[in-house]
Amino acid sequence: MTECLKIENLYKIFARSPDQAMQMLAAGSNKDEVLAKTGAVVGLNNVTLSVPAGAIYMIMGLSGSGKSTLARCINRLNEPSSGKIILDGEDLVPINEERLREIRRTRISMVFQHFALLPNKRVIENTEFGLKLRGVPLQERRRRAEEVLSVVGLARWAYHFPHELSGGMRQRVGLARALATDADVLIMDEAFSALDPLIRTEMQEELLRLQRTFRKTILFITHDFQEALKLGTRIAIMSEGELVREGTPQQIVLEPGSDYVAAFTREIDRSRLFDARSIMTTARGIAQTSMGGVSEKFPPTGEPAFVVDTDNRILGALSAADQRMVNAGTSPGSLLSSDYIAVPANAKLVDVARVFRTGQPMAVVDENGKLIGTLGAEQILSRIAATSSPQPSSLGDQNV
Ligand SMILES: Nc1ncnc2c1ncn2[C@@H]1O[C@H](COP(=O)(O)OP(=O)(O)O)[C@@H](O)[C@H]1O
Ligand SMILES: [Mg+2]
Repeated sequence: MTECLKIENLYKIFARSPDQAMQMLAAGSNKDEVLAKTGAVVGLNNVTLSVPAGAIYMIMGLSGSGKSTLARCINRLNEPSSGKIILDGEDLVPINEERLREIRRTRISMVFQHFALLPNKRVIENTEFGLKLRGVPLQERRRRAEEVLSVVGLARWAYHFPHELSGGMRQRVGLARALATDADVLIMDEAFSALDPLIRTEMQEELLRLQRTFRKTILFITHDFQEALKLGTRIAIMSEGELVREGTPQQIVLEPGSDYVAAFTREIDRSRLFDARSIMTTARGIAQTSMGGVSEKFPPTGEPAFVVDTDNRILGALSAADQRMVNAGTSPGSLLSSDYIAVPANAKLVDVARVFRTGQPMAVVDENGKLIGTLGAEQILSRIAATSSPQPSSLGDQNV
């Protein structure tokens, strides 16, 4: 398993001699200025990022922003002009041809928008192609190829030719070929972008499903923000060769940080992006004791509160007035109300909003049914309705 893939201060200048362009960038010039003055095209401008092992890391940006250049630099289809590409502690920029070939065979697999299947080879041969290059014996690579073809639902098609398959199925063969090699880093450059919307959605689901089993480290490139939100563990947004924003999908939607990024987020259906946990107020219930009283007094919040058993499972809700009575010594038993709603922490806000009733307290419970938080109408609605603030701040992962 990959520790992680790190990109440090990576530059790619398309020019015979990039020195002048590099100097201009260092002095603060932008891509247009460099082009006008030197004729050099800035592909990547000081990109630094870190892809955690097992993540689906999305590189998002408009056409021409440098996404493919970044992907191609990683396995040196493009030679970086400067910077580091560190895979498990090894910088791939200075390695020799032989080591590079080995890395490409064993560690990094690429999946392109057009999978470039060999048209005169059967599906199975296409699938095992990477293994053949690695010198894996026929029997063994066949077995492996059959295995991954069945994983992507193409077992029946193993001995057909690519032209007999639909576009979506060919895409699956490309994916199967990448999975078959055992490479632990997959780079997918607009791999689903040419597909019909329906098949594309299907492939996205498929990738998420496969990822739960295979746990690859995936660098997935797309110009589609919805796709980035759907698949991404984290998203890096590129513009003009620069990385302009990086974070979890929620962080980026909540705090785009610039007009460029905000423009992508405007059309997003927040109610499907955020879950109950992301907006709840963390709360623990007050436990009922074996004597029938409560373990401690309710703080005066004016809000409904929950009484729980010693396992933190909800016994009932108490209004603010009833909390005062319990604080004054009344046993909670007869006051406890079952007129509350409990939602799972991972429930999407669209579903939370559907079950919400004004006046009913809402509890958020974990997978074991234990109380972990509370929700109010204003929290739900303001998150769904929120217009993006352009100010990035120190929003931590734990809050979103
Ligand atoms: N081989 C090349 N020679 C010169 N310029 C290139 C080359 N490849 C890419 N570029 C330029 O680099 C920039 C980034 O391109 P690319 O990485 O393909 O963008 P994206 O994949 O985001 O659409 C663009 O301005 C593009 O014209
Ligand atoms: Mg591209």
